[in-house]
Amino acid sequence: MRILFLTHSFNSLTQRLFSELRARGHVVSIEFDISDSVAEEAVALFRPELIVAPYLRRAIPASIWSRHVCLVVHPGIVGDRGPSALDWAIQAGEREWGVTVLQANAEMDAGDIWAAETFPMRCAKKSSLYRNEVTESATRAVLAAVERFAAPGFRPLPLARAVARGQLRPLMRQEDRRIDWSTDDTATIVAKINAADGFPGVADSLFGIACNLFDVHAEAQRPAGTAGDIVARRDGALLRLTRDGALWIGHVKRADRAGSFKLPATVAFPRETAALPESAAPLMRDDGQWGELRYREQGQVGFLAFEFYNGAMSTEQCSRLRQAYAFARSRPTRVIVLEGGTDYWSNGIHLNMIEAAGSPADASWDNINAIDDFARDVIETDTHLTVAALCGNAGAGGAFLALAADRVWARAGVILNPHYKNMGNLYGSEYWTYLLPRRVGADRARRIVGNRMPLPAPQALREEMVDACIDAPPAGFAEEVAERASALAQAPDFAARLEAKRARRADDEKTKPLAIYRDEELANMRRNFYGFDPSYHVARFHFVAKSPNSWTPRHLALHRELGWCVPEGAA
Ligand code: COA
Repeated sequence: MRILFLTHSFNSLTQRLFSELRARGHVVSIEFDISDSVAEEAVALFRPELIVAPYLRRAIPASIWSRHVCLVVHPGIVGDRGPSALDWAIQAGEREWGVTVLQANAEMDAGDIWAAETFPMRCAKKSSLYRNEVTESATRAVLAAVERFAAPGFRPLPLARAVARGQLRPLMRQEDRRIDWSTDDTATIVAKINAADGFPGVADSLFGIACNLFDVHAEAQRPAGTAGDIVARRDGALLRLTRDGALWIGHVKRADRAGSFKLPATVAFPRETAALPESAAPLMRDDGQWGELRYREQGQVGFLAFEFYNGAMSTEQCSRLRQAYAFARSRPTRVIVLEGGTDYWSNGIHLNMIEAAGSPADASWDNINAIDDFARDVIETDTHLTVAALCGNAGAGGAFLALAADRVWARAGVILNPHYKNMGNLYGSEYWTYLLPRRVGADRARRIVGNRMPLPAPQALREEMVDACIDAPPAGFAEEVAERASALAQAPDFAARLEAKRARRADDEKTKPLAIYRDEELANMRRNFYGFDPSYHVARFHFVAKSPNSWTPRHLALHRELGWCVPEGAA
């Protein structure tokens, strides 16, 4: 089928659906929702048999839905309507939530139901629920709806006839999100901030300055003080007391500065937080304490988690990660599993921190060198076998960083974006020119980085970019990784495998030293950062500022290709 996606952006859910439908042989083209007339033009050019709207922020114009079946993905249970579906569900403490695929009509979210799925809720950020439970459910529901559309005789269920406990809810306003630090307990505040994370955050104030709060983590111990007091800092976050406990606030967006964007709390308030006591969490610790880095052992396997917000890795975070990794290497284990974070394994250098720097070019240079240093540590590890275990997505430099490990195991729902070109034609580093061709060969490597397309884990396995694709939810994935890592550590030929790894590295080094790969990559990156072509700086600015799209990239909009024509005989 020719399926047109009308979407606000090519976000993770859209990428997943795009990949799943293409894998089933459908011809999928994408048009960003820029204006009604541009959407109408796309429909006229592509002449889709079906339109799918995975992520829209506006209604589809009547000129389109009255002539084509348009399936809209709504992140809510049957009957739920409105633009803040997940926000209300999280704040209300819903135990079960869902995704409904309905047909667009004159009334927002009130069309006939083509498919619906439910899932148990988890205490997590809205963006995390969206990237995991919502994405999995939406994938099942859209695939079912597309099959039903193709099958003769299927009739979608009118909402009025559905058994529905969902209801129409308004846009959630900041008034509905407001925190009262003197009366709200920790769980309520966590739910309020989770319901607003990644967007729009909860409007509050810190140090008397208005700002939006994101990235909250409850703390097990409550230091002495009054609710609302800010008493410590850790990993860029601030510890704030509540009525019955305390919580870490990781990221904020200041409201007193035009064009401001999300930053780690201590970076957004450097002067105000300078005197706060630094309360580092031990790397090996009980579950109750929050911190970005965590190391644990199970038998002969060490697990290093780096839970960096949005998978972005600043210079300082890379350097802390290197120290943690050095610790992991010093342990009497055999295998080190690099777990990354639950939602993202890594998305490469920290574009927001770079944007906020006095010299973004210098900050980019420092950041890429810091991430390269970590990649080199992993590549040169000759004491352990290493595994990159991707529970969450990885993009740009983060996708190549994973290849520094000896084995790459990905959860089946993971999407990789192993390319840099979307960031202003960045050349990229992280030793990708060594790591990718070494795994997949030179031709395939050129194709993967050149075509700027998302690569779902099952396809990455076929392309030999990853070694295993594990079909399990996040908790099951962690268990399976632990089992496989333990088997690797106990393998009778472990010593031989380690020796083979050392020999291969030595051979590779003789053929072309790692330092040369790095120098060559960084010579290109230097031009991206300091050269006359500002594309990278422009792209980064728009990425961080979240500038609305004003066109759909040609590699996504098939119907805008010069040679595009509707297949003969098409309706
Ligand atoms: N630095 C800072 N923030 C980043 C980031 C990075 N490298 N990569 C992603 N983010 C942030 C986004 O701004 C967004 O922030 P929000 O919470 O305020 O909404 C959040 O992470 C999620 O990103 P989004 O693009 O919505 O997620 P996605 O899953 O749909 O797409 C990517 C994932 C990786 C394709 C996309 O985020 C991307 O292109 N990131 C840039 C990667 C990059 O170019 N890195 C630098 C070169 S190494």
